[in-house]
Amino acid sequence: HGYFTYDPGYGSTGSTQSSITYIDGDEGILTHRGYRIEDLAANSSFIEVCYLLLEGELPNKKQLAQFEKNITYHTMLHEQIARFFSGFRRDAHPMAVMVAVVGALSAFYHDSTDIHDPHQRMIATHRLIAKVPTIAAMAYKYSTGQPFIYPQNDLSYAENFLRMTFAVPAEEYKINPVVAKAMDLIFILHADHEQNASTSTVRIAGSSGANPFACIAAGIACLWGPAHGGANEAVLKMLAEIGDKSKVKDYIKRVKNKEDNTRLMGFGHRVYKNYDPRAAVIRTACHDVLDALGKRGEPLLDLAMELERVALEDEYFISHKLFPNVDFYSGIILQAIGFPTSMFTVLFAVARTVGWVAQWKEMIEDPTQRIGRPRQLYTGYGERPYLPIDKRK
Ligand code: CMC
Repeated sequence: HGYFTYDPGYGSTGSTQSSITYIDGDEGILTHRGYRIEDLAANSSFIEVCYLLLEGELPNKKQLAQFEKNITYHTMLHEQIARFFSGFRRDAHPMAVMVAVVGALSAFYHDSTDIHDPHQRMIATHRLIAKVPTIAAMAYKYSTGQPFIYPQNDLSYAENFLRMTFAVPAEEYKINPVVAKAMDLIFILHADHEQNASTSTVRIAGSSGANPFACIAAGIACLWGPAHGGANEAVLKMLAEIGDKSKVKDYIKRVKNKEDNTRLMGFGHRVYKNYDPRAAVIRTACHDVLDALGKRGEPLLDLAMELERVALEDEYFISHKLFPNVDFYSGIILQAIGFPTSMFTVLFAVARTVGWVAQWKEMIEDPTQRIGRPRQLYTGYGERPYLPIDKRK
């Protein structure tokens, strides 16, 4: 029946060619279009990184201004989309809302279905980058019962998102520059990560020629899981479960003995087996944010720092090459900023949207692209005679 390789989890299958992101897991290197993530994090804004991922080059001043204009042009949502939210229970998980509302954009932008028109492709990518933060902030507002806050386009991407999330109409909203910088950094560090599970999902969904908004909704669905984007939420749940700094060592013992398959959430990575360069950048930012916001003494965050310290010195984690990943620190920063845990994965989705659309666009423009269609190792019955219902046990 033809030959193929059995490769569960596709750990050794190159599913595509791509010139967007490069990872060397052994060396702890991550580059976007050839630029090191450390350099981008130190010098670029998230919106510059968006341009880089989409267009292949860092923008000059004029290109950046035009790109910012193009994105902010699309930040509003149609009022009918705003009404879509009222169909959800107010305690719905915001990722469920994200999957549905981003998917629903496909019904609002029928023109985007013409994926072979480069102009329509560009508009679809801009719309997604612009509208996903607005939807994410609305999901939060809906869960709290506060009125939606509309985008303010003279703010940066991160500032606008923070304002849409945390501002309330009756009060003046002051942006804390430390918080805005940390938010922008979290967006940069999560912008793209080559063929991870959600990006591969977007590519497979898109490989059939499906509507780009529906494809990104598929990516959001995949990201939701605790082994992927849900990890930063899982970190905070784990910290709450540990409960107290004095219980850290006992919990580590449970993990090492694999009791109930307990894992240290926010530790380990499929590709980075030595260290995750994003974790190194965000670790410093995390400590800065805790200091700047005066949150260092808070029990949960204090517990996180203790866990980091104990695990980094533990022989099991060292020998298994298990280090804190980017989500360990992003979870702690987001908690310190004041996001509820249910929003953590949503923020990952906001950041990753640019990676998904850049990869989707690259795939559509790749002449070697074929529909994604893995094979399987069949383990069921061989052929057998059909059993009429009165003969069945
Ligand atoms: N805590 C304890 N032990 C672990 C952990 C962990 N977090 N991760 C892996 N191990 C152990 C595992 O038990 C196994 O041990 P042994 O060889 O003794 O049986 C060994 O390390 C290899 O594990 P694996 O499952 O083959 O590793 P993987 O590459 O398939 O898994 C992972 C990668 C990220 C799914 C995993 O490390 C994990 O579950 N981490 C916790 C969840 C998490 O933080 N995920 C975020 C990943 S980064 C963000 C993203 O991409 O979305």
